[in-house]
Amino acid sequence: MKKSIDTVWHHATVTRVRREQMNAHRSVVLWFTGLSGSGKSTLAHAVEECLYGHGCRTFVLDGDNIRHGLCADLGFSLEDRSENIRRIGEVSKLLVEAGVIVLTAFISPYRQDRERTRNLFLHDDFIEIFCDAPLEVCEQRDVKGLYARARAGEVKEFTGISSPYEIPINPDLTINTGSLPLDECVEQVLAVLRVRGIIPNQ
Ligand code: ADX
Repeated sequence: MKKSIDTVWHHATVTRVRREQMNAHRSVVLWFTGLSGSGKSTLAHAVEECLYGHGCRTFVLDGDNIRHGLCADLGFSLEDRSENIRRIGEVSKLLVEAGVIVLTAFISPYRQDRERTRNLFLHDDFIEIFCDAPLEVCEQRDVKGLYARARAGEVKEFTGISSPYEIPINPDLTINTGSLPLDECVEQVLAVLRVRGIIPNQ
């Protein structure tokens, strides 16, 4: 990758710490990973709704939306997915500096890409959440009709059908989004945020 060597980092006086103090919560990335249809976006938005209700600064980055803009040039090859996740990692890093609780909902099927993203952050700033719904459940839901089209060979390199999903080995949290009701899933995420001191106990 091309590097901009003739640039100098400009330090802000309004720092992350000051923003966090103003917000009365820490910033962090909640990295939701899982198959298409596993409930990543639904859960991320439901957690965001709850946090927003508590006065937190939040933002959801969602695969389907980001691929209309920032990543509109990318497809679903290994290389393109990798670049997709790299960009989202960098955007998330900016948002964390801006004091925001970032919720990302990308399949992010490759361990290496997720680890590279984790390594962009300090240990406490990145929480990997595996939305663990079996392929059969996701396929049965088939909200977007893509599984049927992938089975018919109309959609190539489809995760879980004709492209791999590498299960997280040591996620910070695994949520059984295939069978638990949404409010219980939300509660599991909020519990981690409280235990880690990201949001106040309330
Ligand atoms: S990722 O693999 O690069 O992380 P991302 O989360 O951005 O994927 O996008 C996944 C979404 O794109 C899916 O939820 C689905 O709606 C759509 N999609 C279209 N084609 C594919 C494909 N071949 N594999 C997976 N998802 C696809």
